[in-house]
Amino acid sequence: GILFFCFSVLKRAFSLHKSHSIKDMENTFQLVKNIIPPLTTKKHKGQDGRIGIVGGCQEYTGAPYFAAISALKVGADLSHVFCTREAAPVIKSYSPELIVHPVLDSPNAVHEVEKWLPRLHALVVGPGLGREDALLENVKGILEASKARAIPVVIDADGLWLIAQQPTLIQGYQKAVLTPNHVEFIRLSEAVLRDPVDSSDRRGAVLRLSQALGNVTVVQKGEQDVISDGEQVLECNLQGSNRRCGGQGDLLSGFLGVLVQWALHAGPEKTNGFSPLLVAAFGACSLTRQCNHQAFQKHGRSTTTSDMIAEIRPAFNRLFET
Ligand SMILES: *[C@@H]1O[C@H](CO)[C@@H](O)[C@H](O)[C@H]1NC(C)=O
Repeated sequence: GILFFCFSVLKRAFSLHKSHSIKDMENTFQLVKNIIPPLTTKKHKGQDGRIGIVGGCQEYTGAPYFAAISALKVGADLSHVFCTREAAPVIKSYSPELIVHPVLDSPNAVHEVEKWLPRLHALVVGPGLGREDALLENVKGILEASKARAIPVVIDADGLWLIAQQPTLIQGYQKAVLTPNHVEFIRLSEAVLRDPVDSSDRRGAVLRLSQALGNVTVVQKGEQDVISDGEQVLECNLQGSNRRCGGQGDLLSGFLGVLVQWALHAGPEKTNGFSPLLVAAFGACSLTRQCNHQAFQKHGRSTTTSDMIAEIRPAFNRLFET
């Protein structure tokens, strides 16, 4: 029944207004299913994903927690948080399941994170980061170090603020996924394209931003999520709910960190020639929406991000394992 709630578009950039079929939706879900690694006895801890979240400061401790715990609950084996000294004890106290490094405001933050990079499959940069100059400077160094090691990076929230100031940080890095909301998207587009955004053509606008960034994958979150890798445009509007509690974006970025690594590991033969990051993004958007939908069924107006986290397992099962 899920397909009736879902409407995805998978088509060439230059035929944006063609109609699309149920078959396309089924196919897109099948591609997500293809990248999910089977659980077997042959694996050791860490093989299904070691994810690092870069963010968490004095004001914001919830966002990096939500991203990190979502990564674990979607199936990562280890989830690290690199945050400021003050934020660390707070984030640790939320959960014994996370590995928390109080390094982000230290003078040798880049080195401290770099030490871990060989052991990480993907980084999620931005949840709860804030905009303090010294932190952003450290994050810049962390991004450079990650690119040098070809580690996939998902960039959200104030990580996107940094990219809007310095687009060259990510330009041409095709292992990056940006997840702007409406406001962040406009800021980024205006910084990169130096043109006002044509809000009557969301798909075209997302495609153009992706291309201008050298085909970096862009996920514009909204009533529909619009995803592009500079070639294709894909839309996800699986039914969520009208409840928009803060923190949903953190779930999406945590899911993406894991799915990006699964998709890259599975490779283009499993994604039928489509960009693995595009498939990962579609999977993460669908899952976020399904969690929201299921949580809303139970909690209505009281739905919070923690209620959505409790739905990760059944939502994942419903979408991808049946
Ligand atoms: C981005 O993708 C488009 C469409 O496939 C292609 O024409 C263009 O050359 C690509 N740009 C880069 C920088 O790879």
